Amino acid sequence: MSKVRIGIIGCGSIGSVHADSYAKVADAEVVAMCDILSEKLKEKAARHNVAKTYENYHDLLADPEIDAVSVCVPNCMHAPIAIDAFKAGKHVMLEKPMTMNANLGRDILAARDASGKVLQMGMVWRQTPEAQVVRKAVEDGKLGEIYQIRVRMIRRRGIPGLGGWFTTKEKSGGGGLIDLAVHFLDLSCWAAGLWNPTKVSAKTYSKFGSKMRDYHYISMWAGPPNYDGVFDVDDYAAGLIRFGSKATLSFEVAWACNSEEESYVELLGDKGGVKIGGTKTILRTEVDGMIADTELFFKRDQDRFVLQLEKFVAAVQGKGDVPATGEQGVILMEILDAIYKSSEEDSEVTI
Ligand SMILES: NC(=O)c1ccc[n+]([C@@H]2O[C@H](COP(=O)([O-])OP(=O)(O)OC[C@H]3O[C@@H](n4cnc5c(N)ncnc54)[C@H](O)[C@@H]3O)[C@@H](O)[C@H]2O)c1
Repeated sequence: MSKVRIGIIGCGSIGSVHADSYAKVADAEVVAMCDILSEKLKEKAARHNVAKTYENYHDLLADPEIDAVSVCVPNCMHAPIAIDAFKAGKHVMLEKPMTMNANLGRDILAARDASGKVLQMGMVWRQTPEAQVVRKAVEDGKLGEIYQIRVRMIRRRGIPGLGGWFTTKEKSGGGGLIDLAVHFLDLSCWAAGLWNPTKVSAKTYSKFGSKMRDYHYISMWAGPPNYDGVFDVDDYAAGLIRFGSKATLSFEVAWACNSEEESYVELLGDKGGVKIGGTKTILRTEVDGMIADTELFFKRDQDRFVLQLEKFVAAVQGKGDVPATGEQGVILMEILDAIYKSSEEDSEVTI
């Protein structure tokens, strides 16, 4: 089969990561890029050696020489663009978070189903070789029954694009929770095989970004800051998610807080426990009545974005299933909706 012809919509930080990564996927070719900012569009198209440019995504979607699109725009535009892409008969690689809330996520699923095209979610952390080796250990029964997941994703000062769309609720849907936690919630549910969240009790806080001019940082994704802009989202969240009566997930996620930088998902099972994101990946277990640790090794030279896009392109070519489905995207949005609701209502919320 000939190469899958890709259009990238949104030429910001992650749009460039997609362009660089598709360049390493043998069966893909980026043929067009789109951004509403004409100078940025020209600069990125030149940098990534892409001939066609569009300032309006509708024009890119009308191009018959494009088979599939990567949607790399602010969160508020995920649903409109993904839905229009399906209507135009394109396959969709949709960046995380799926969209602003679960209802919009269901609208995307309906559009996908009506089109018969492929939808893959940008849940890229699953693609790390470390996550894959842990998932295999879970599938092989090495952890037994998983009853608790611990998530800690802490940035000391990691607010992206302060004052821009990332920190403006009507454009992002939320702060660190929807931006960062979604990766770790996905990694947790996928690695543990738990996709039945039932209740959430959580609290979100906004302690650093809201005092914009007093916010000190070392580097900023999607910066520089816009001090005339808006910060009306969360920069810290903690809570507990129940999966029926047999498993729980406790989480702490911060764009910014006065704690040690850390990022891990730890799975606790009755036969073994393992942490994704430490310096070593250790399966803590028992062997023949002895308490024992086994180090899990994995390749370190594989790029998660390239692996993700290889799977998307293969799915478009009918050579495999997408690794992260829209259905799972909606479940994650339901969890996020419930976390925000629980925080607002100061009570446990049933999903
Ligand atoms: N998978 C990951 O690890 C990861 C990392 C960063 C960002 N993201 C996600 O990628 C998306 C983009 O994030 P970013 O950091 O690249 O943001 P960014 O602000 O750097 O880039 C977004 C780009 O989209 C453009 N844009 C806005 N509206 C548009 C429209 N209607 N049509 C075409 N272009 C439009 C903007 O001009 C901008 O250039 C977000 O949803 C974010 O959550 C994912």
